Amino acid sequence: MDIILETPRLIFRRFTEADAKLILELHSDPLVLQYLHEPLVTTEEEAKQIIRKTILPQYKMNLGRWALHTKDNNKFIGWCGIKLNSANNETDLGYRLSNETWGKGYATEAAEYTLQFGFDTLHLKRIIAHAHVQNTASINVLEKIGMKYVRDEVVDDIPVKTFVAINNL
Ligand SMILES: CC(C)(COP(=O)(O)OP(=O)(O)OC[C@H]1O[C@@H](n2cnc3c(N)ncnc32)[C@H](O)[C@@H]1OP(=O)(O)O)[C@@H](O)C(=O)NCCC(=O)NCCS
Repeated sequence: MDIILETPRLIFRRFTEADAKLILELHSDPLVLQYLHEPLVTTEEEAKQIIRKTILPQYKMNLGRWALHTKDNNKFIGWCGIKLNSANNETDLGYRLSNETWGKGYATEAAEYTLQFGFDTLHLKRIIAHAHVQNTASINVLEKIGMKYVRDEVVDDIPVKTFVAINNL
């Protein structure tokens, strides 16, 4: 297993094409996609394409969305990570957890350690994050990990709040 990072309760590892079932499960839940304006994934083949075309290419830059497992029972709970948006050269923090694992602080724990990893290990200078203006749970996570709100804007036709963290070292 390609482990990237550990937190007190979570292990981060790289996805492989063998994880299509896990992505299908997560990305086929309308509650999880509620604020994301993405089509629901309905087949394992579609999930495999997401892994191939969206997730794996980011690993070549040591960035990407990493699979999260709980340390206590090795359960897959979703993903978290930093992605390069080559259109504007911004590195973007994102996370997506299965709904039965919400409300346990896992997203905040994952996002906090990911941000630190981005600065300390990947030596990124600036990390941004967008959350749909109504996605209160996600906005709370970004505020709790200390990212600074900068503006409301429309990104890919979605009204979002944009947050930034700068590496001051
Ligand atoms: C956004 C998302 C990741 C937030 O998940 P979450 O579980 O609500 O987030 P948190 O990790 O902050 O946990 C929430 C609560 O768990 C509680 N909690 C329980 N045990 C805890 C613990 N050991 N440590 C910390 N918090 C704990 C906290 O009270 C916290 O709520 P509070 O900060 O209001 O007090 C989740 O809603 C999700 O995956 N949504 C779908 C995808 C999505 O929208 N992604 C974001 C795109 S911008």
